[in-house]
Amino acid sequence: MMKTQLLTEEQINKAAQIIKDGGLVAMPTETVYGLAADALNGNAVAKIFKAKGRPMDNPLIVHIAALHDIERLAACFPEKARRLASSFWPGPLTIVLPKSGLIPDEVSAGLDTVGIRFPAHPLAQALIKESGTPLAAPSANRSGIPSPTAARHVLQDMDGRIEAVLDGGECRVGVESTVITLAGDRPRLLRPGGVTLEQMEAVIGKIDVDDAVLHRLKDGVKAASPGMKYRHYAPKAHVVLIKAADQKYIDYVNNHADEQTACMCFEEDVAALRAGKAYPLGEKEDALCQARVLFSTLRQIDDDGMTLVYARCPETDGVGMAVYNRLIRAAGFEVKELA
Ligand code: TXA
Ligand code: MG
Repeated sequence: MMKTQLLTEEQINKAAQIIKDGGLVAMPTETVYGLAADALNGNAVAKIFKAKGRPMDNPLIVHIAALHDIERLAACFPEKARRLASSFWPGPLTIVLPKSGLIPDEVSAGLDTVGIRFPAHPLAQALIKESGTPLAAPSANRSGIPSPTAARHVLQDMDGRIEAVLDGGECRVGVESTVITLAGDRPRLLRPGGVTLEQMEAVIGKIDVDDAVLHRLKDGVKAASPGMKYRHYAPKAHVVLIKAADQKYIDYVNNHADEQTACMCFEEDVAALRAGKAYPLGEKEDALCQARVLFSTLRQIDDDGMTLVYARCPETDGVGMAVYNRLIRAAGFEVKELA
């Protein structure tokens, strides 16, 4: 087992040296912590899959800190990609494009495309610049469980498995970046995130929403984004997503919850809950807050020894679409609809 160092902002040079030497550093981004390696070094990238226990057919996002880097990483940079980049970068948006010959197979996992993101977090930008190379980075969690939004979450999962964690405090967005592909005939949303469908459509017009965003993929259908096919973001506790109006949710929980049931609800629900333990994600209309605390709340629920989660279904527009997308996967698509 290796010793995992916890590095501060002042030790960014140390972190960059680890990357240059082909090692792994968990870095803060505005979405979630990423597990970074030199994206142009296939051997270094292979270590990411091992540390995470990640299936080898799930491609990684490449992080850049200067727009012109896209020209050598992607085979083309179409007009719609340019418009999205100039509107939302740096920020929580990943654009999938045909890949250039520079991208190792380990990164693209056999696809002929590459997802590129220019993160907004100053420490992520600093690490990319100091390392002198783009960084491949998936979320820095063990595969399948909630993504880390603080350095302590990364240590819970990765202590002894990676060289270092760069501590940048809590992540501002809290869910992973929006992923859109511009590699096909029409723009298609593969994963909702902090940049919303509505915001992007205002810039480039109509965007298709991949079926896997809001529904369980039918057996035998190939996932456009391989990461969307796995049970994902799931705590140890059993999660049930409850689609119900205010009072119906409260009545259900009050009749069914026990001391080991976590009620992941809205602030407005808390006063009326008589059973279980309340874990409010934020006010009903405040999807930004719900997104920010979702993963840390799921981890807290496990730390508290809860065994069952009754998660209230969020609104599905705006950033709520990202919250819903993560929750249905955390629930393994177990949804209870109360009419
Ligand atoms: O916010 C984020 O995107 C974070 C931070 C660290 O940047 N990263 C992240 O990476 O969430 P990961 O690996 O946990 O999720 C990447 C998702 C997966 O669902 C993967 O299948 C998809 O993006 N993806 C990556 N490259 C792709 C490609 N070329 N085509 C389609 N989907 C791709
Ligand atoms: Mg992930």
